[in-house]
Formats: sequence, C-alpha cells, structure tokens
Amino acid sequence: MQKKITIAIDGYAGCGKSTLAKALAKALDYTFIDSGAMYRAVAFYCLENNLVLEQDEIAEATLIQQLDQISIQLGSDQRVWLNNQDITEVIRSPRVAGIVSKVAAIKAVRVKLVELQRQMSAAGGIVMDGRDIGTVVFPDAELKIFVTASIEVRTQRRLEELRAKGEVVDQLAVEENLKSRDHQDSTRAESPLKQAADAVVLDTSALSREEQLSWALARVALLVTD
Ligand code: DC
Repeated sequence: MQKKITIAIDGYAGCGKSTLAKALAKALDYTFIDSGAMYRAVAFYCLENNLVLEQDEIAEATLIQQLDQISIQLGSDQRVWLNNQDITEVIRSPRVAGIVSKVAAIKAVRVKLVELQRQMSAAGGIVMDGRDIGTVVFPDAELKIFVTASIEVRTQRRLEELRAKGEVVDQLAVEENLKSRDHQDSTRAESPLKQAADAVVLDTSALSREEQLSWALARVALLVTD
C-alpha cells in the first residue's frame, strides 16, 4: 500500500486552492479539509449573535467568552455545520467575506481552530487548504503547495462563481474584497499568510483545473513512490 502523506495548500484568496485541494483529495482518496470554512463559520456566528459592531469591529472579548459554545463540523460531503445548523451556503456570502479576515486575526479563534484542524487530521491522508497550513498547522507536512494567481484572474474567477449562484455582483467590489482580505491576512500578527520556506509555488493564472491537478499529482507521486 502506498504511504499516505499530509498535503498543505496555502495561498491568497481566490487562487483556486479549495478547488485544487478537493480534486486532489478525490484523486488520492484522501480527506479534504477546507480550513477557511471554519473561520467563515466563526464569522457567521458573530453575525448571528450580534458580535459585529459598528464599522464591522468584532466584539472580541465576548466572542472569546463564547468560543466554547461554538461547535463546527465538516461533513465528508463538504457541508459545514455550526451548532447543528447547516451553514454551507451562507458562509460564502459577501457579508461573511467582508468580516472573516477580522475574525481570523483573533488569536484565541486561531488556537481553537488549529487544534480542531489537527484533531480532524489525526487519521492521516489529508489535503488541507488555508493560509497557515504549511507554516503553523502542519509544519511537517510532506508536501506544501503555495498557490498564486494574478489579481485579474482571481477577480474574474470569483465573479463567475458568484454570478453562477445568481448573485448580482460588482467587479470592483469583488476585487477590493480580495485585495483587502489578502492585505489583512498577510499583515496580521497571528500566523500571517506567508509561503513556507519548503513550499513549492503553483501559479494557476494560465492553468486549467486539469493542468493544476496533474501538476500536483506529479508532485505527490515523487513523494509516495520510492
Ligand atoms: O479560504 P477562504 O477564503 O475561505 O478563507 C476565509 C478567511 O479565513 C480568509 O480571509 C483568511 C482566513 N483563513 C485563515 O486565516 N487561516 C486559514 N487557515 C484559512 C482561512
């Protein structure tokens, strides 16, 4: 039997990390974990529980007090549950996207979610995507991929995704949200987004999904066959 490895996929918002991670997990029969969905779940909790104040400030102290009441589950079908409520679709809304970086900058939130991410991965054979997977969650991951793409391509892809869901979207607003999240995610004090020293870079700007998957599978093959 081939050895099962841990694959960490990090990168900026809208580069196609989750799409690649999901396809890779399917091809390898590994477990896919979308860590961003977990931060989005906490952001949704904040919206639902009046923890988002004026100018989208988060009521941090109250959130920290309530962290123990937040239970997040990720189904094998990629559905996301918050305290037994299915929040799969609603966590993709612009409202959640607008505040999630602030929530993800809170240290206590990260400590809780990193612990959960490690528990979920205990069985091995994992593909996890996020911002700190190769640097903090799994610094010993056998394969670390840092995904990039131009801002133009990322904006276009996100627009298509939102339009496919029937949402009326403004191109500039989508681009600004991506840029502002990237800025917040890479400049925060706690586990900022950065490329791990031993990560390999994948620029998806000009690559189809199939090409990205083939590239990643070739990398895996180098590691699992001796
Ligand atoms: O990948 P995504 O867009 O669903 O992530 C949502 C937000 O969560 C993003 O702004 C950064 C944050 N995040 C993080 O800080 N660490 C992770 N491991 C995953 C996501």
